[in-house]
Amino acid sequence: MRTTVGWQAAGPATPLLRAPLERRDLRPDDLAVRVDYCGVCHSDLHAIRAHDGAERPPLVPGHEFTGTVTEAGAEVTGFSVGDRVAVGNIVDSCGECAMCRAGQENFCHTFPTLTYGGVDRRDGSTTLGGYSREYVVRDRFAYPLPAGLDPAAAAPLLCAGITVWEPLHTLEVGPGSRVAVAGLGGLGHLAVKLAVALGAETTVISRSPDKADDARRLGARALIVSTDEQRMAEARDRFDVVIDTISAPHDLGPYLRLVALDGTLSHLGHLGPVTVDAMDLLVGRKRLSSAGSGGRPATAAMLDFCAATGVAAEIELLPSAQVNEALDRLERNDVRYRFVLDMSDLD
Ligand SMILES: NC(=O)c1ccc[n+]([C@@H]2O[C@H](COP(=O)([O-])OP(=O)(O)OC[C@H]3O[C@@H](n4cnc5c(N)ncnc54)[C@H](OP(=O)(O)O)[C@@H]3O)[C@@H](O)[C@H]2O)c1
Ligand SMILES: [Zn+2]
Ligand SMILES: [Zn+2]
Repeated sequence: MRTTVGWQAAGPATPLLRAPLERRDLRPDDLAVRVDYCGVCHSDLHAIRAHDGAERPPLVPGHEFTGTVTEAGAEVTGFSVGDRVAVGNIVDSCGECAMCRAGQENFCHTFPTLTYGGVDRRDGSTTLGGYSREYVVRDRFAYPLPAGLDPAAAAPLLCAGITVWEPLHTLEVGPGSRVAVAGLGGLGHLAVKLAVALGAETTVISRSPDKADDARRLGARALIVSTDEQRMAEARDRFDVVIDTISAPHDLGPYLRLVALDGTLSHLGHLGPVTVDAMDLLVGRKRLSSAGSGGRPATAAMLDFCAATGVAAEIELLPSAQVNEALDRLERNDVRYRFVLDMSDLD
């Protein structure tokens, strides 16, 4: 075992505490990565709030990070010491099922190994995430960070970015598409940037009228306040794709009613049971879909697209010691638009 240091949850409410962590010794196909920057995803907050402290294995969040290879296993050929890499929220999969063979490791039939709170396939240990100075990862699930992408602003692409990219891409969003993005947070602002970069006419649906200027600066045509019933009614049937990134349970009806004939509501935000009135699907032959994370080919393609088009997250960079402040502010919707932790203060 090798040791590093990171930020660990002691329970659902208490602050994360700095703690020594163990990482496995390198397997032949492993990389040791010095974590340089790690994004703070709302899923981290959900995981911390659901964690009951002593009863469970330790929780170290963090599943969108960039870093530098410090050591490579004996059989690694694609990476060298010093390479910049990016790691998302999947660190392994079976590699054999139909989903893995199709390059959709995110939907692996045996469930992909998550970057934190997952179970390592070979030693059964609980994975500990990227709020730490070092991560040991199977080489297949590390991505070369394209030159030209800022390593701090690129970190959120690995969860927030890929999660919105896969549906935008598979729903063939491009020039002429009309896209609405509900919830202008970490996922939402990247959905706007990516949809705009793909050529779509893009609108934000938000409960926060004070985000209107930002929405336009990000490339959206307009921001519709979700509580403005008249504007919501005027926008009925208007969007080919609605990307829903809202982090709390909510009624899907108002968002389905924005979807155009044969269009799709892609429900990506708060995951859990939803109730849908079938009439909201029937009228307009609308589709309800969901997605999460991305397969290896799509993740690499998303990074290349972002490097080519200059898409990256708008971040507030904080020393990792301010992780608790970042989480508290994220909970209060006080983030424009993604916190990224600079892990260098852990040395
Ligand atoms: N499918 C996946 O694989 C996947 C991956 C990553 C994250 N997620 C989930 O996606 C959600 C968003 O994550 P994020 O990191 O983007 O979070 P975030 O930065 O906090 O953004 C969420 C946005 O949702 C809106 N919102 C929050 N609470 C709301 C409420 N009660 N009613 C209406 N709107 C509300 C806010 O936008 P406005 O102020 O504009 O209204 C907020 O900025 C989380 O639930 C997260 O767990 C899913
Ligand atoms: Zn995430
Ligand atoms: Zn599989």
